[in-house]
Parts: sequence; C-alpha cells; structure tokens
Amino acid sequence: MADRPTIARTVPSLRRALAPFRDSGQRIALVPTMGALHRGHLTLVREARRRARRVVVSIFVNPTQFAPHEDFGSYPRGFAADLKVLQTAKADLVWAPSAEAMYPEGFATRIEPQGAAKAGLEDKFRPHFFGGVTTVVAKLFTQTAPDFALFGEKDYQQLRVVTQMAKDLDLPLKVIGVPTVREQDGLALSSRNAYLSAAERSVAPLLYRVLKTSAARIKKGEKIQHVLDVGRIEIDVAGFALDYLEARHALTLAPIASRNDGPIRLLVAVKIGKTRLIDNLGV
Ligand code: PAJ
Repeated sequence: MADRPTIARTVPSLRRALAPFRDSGQRIALVPTMGALHRGHLTLVREARRRARRVVVSIFVNPTQFAPHEDFGSYPRGFAADLKVLQTAKADLVWAPSAEAMYPEGFATRIEPQGAAKAGLEDKFRPHFFGGVTTVVAKLFTQTAPDFALFGEKDYQQLRVVTQMAKDLDLPLKVIGVPTVREQDGLALSSRNAYLSAAERSVAPLLYRVLKTSAARIKKGEKIQHVLDVGRIEIDVAGFALDYLEARHALTLAPIASRNDGPIRLLVAVKIGKTRLIDNLGV
C-alpha cells in the first residue's frame, strides 16, 4: 500500500510540505476538486502522475461559486473515503483548507472573468459561478505554484475559462484538459449523479445519446440549427427541463453558424427533478 498522502490544512503547512519537492527540482501537478471523488477525478490524478513526479489534490467545496439557492449545504462530502481513494491513487499531498483558511476575515478580492465566461451558457444560469471558480482556482494556483494543473473536459466552459485566466495572469503553469469519463451507458460521471432517483438515473444517458447523434449529423453536413432543434425536442420529450443545447466554437465558445466557422463543441445543460446535469462533446 502506498503511503498515506500528507494533509495540509493551512497555507503555511501547504508551503512547508511543498518545499522539499521544489527544492529537489521535482515537477508538481495540481488536481483541483471539491471532493466526493469518483473515477473521473481519479483519471485526472492518473494523468497528473504521468506528467509530474509529485501530485497535489485539493479538496475544497468552494462557497463562492454557489448561489444562495444552490446545493452548497447538501453538496456530497466524504473526506475519509476521499483520502482512502487518494492513497490508492498515490497522491502525495492533499490540500484541504477550511473556508477560513481560504477566505480569512476581511478577504476582499474577486476575479471577474470575461470572454468564454460570458458565452451565455453556464454563466446565463449561474451568473456568480465563474467569478467564484476563477477566484478560488487563482488562489489554488498561487498557493501551490504547480507546473501542471488538470481539469476535466466534463466542465468544458470551466476548462476554457481557467485556461484563459492562467494565460491572462501570466501564471507559469500549463492547464491540461482531460477527456470525460463516462458510465457504460454514456452518462458522464459527476458527484451530483448521487442526487438522481432510480427513474431519473435511467433516463439520464439520453443526454449523451443526443450529443452523439447531433455530432454525427452535423459531421454529415446537416444544418446545425435543424440538428439542434431536433435534439432539443428529444430532450424535452424525455422529461428534462432544458437549460441549453448549443453548438459553439470549441475554443472561444462563440456562437457558430456553420461547420466552416471552426472546430465545434456541442454543450448541453438540463434539470431533471432537483438535479442539474451538464455534458458536452466535440464534433
Ligand atoms: P469538481 O466538480 O469536484 O471537479 C473537479 C475536476 O474533476 C474538474 O476539473 C472536473 O471537470 C473534473 N471532472 C468531474 N467529472 C469528470 C468526469 N466525468 N470526467 C473527467 N473529469 C471530470 O470542478 C470543480 O470541482 C470546481 O469547480 C473546482 C475546479 C475544483 C473549483 O472549485
């Protein structure tokens, strides 16, 4: 069995734990998470280990990216189980600050990302979200000073926004996107899947099926708007409340009218019962 990862709970203890790695010139990869770890997170840890000698996993349910009506209070938390999984995955260091360590009394700075963060996708339904994400991720980056940071394509807009933020702030690290890990039936793994009832869980794979058939039809040359209209109806008929199904430029997330406008990413978000699900796929 691998050694238990070291746990840091304050910025000074994090820096103390990182110093020997840095002093001996070992590369460091960071995997930011909110815990409730599943195979998707573990794929990021595996990719991190491929890139760097030392792997830091942060576990912090970040209050500033949740709106008051969202699920911050009920978000799944299971630190002991997460720690076991990270031991098996051979993470070196777990950065698990308290809310007070991350946002001490008097904290007064917030990043306001533009560009992909204002694409009219997640930001339209969660207007506070990317400001909270970039603020905490910028802190995680400066606290850890990693060589690499790994993010899932599962949260595609987040990946684009964080990549741009690191570039804009001249942070000396490489942001790496990792393909989405799915269940056998196609449902993207997510900590929030735990909220689904058995009936909701059984219809949830439809989202990925719609993404796949839509991508195939666009590739064949069918009109994007028509393909999306059909997909929206399928999602609606299956009983989801659709937030969006959109085709966007894969890098800028700007609206796209035809295949000639650049690489395309399809992005979808729905509510089913009380649960919000998102997914996406390249064309
Ligand atoms: P969380 O939802 O815990 O996700 C942590 C990382 O795991 C993200 O980069 C996410 O895209 C990735 N991930 C989640 N499900 C995945 C899947 N099925 N396949 C591949 N990767 C997957 O995203 C966050 O936390 C937060 O916003 C955070 C970046 C930590 C900032 O608070």
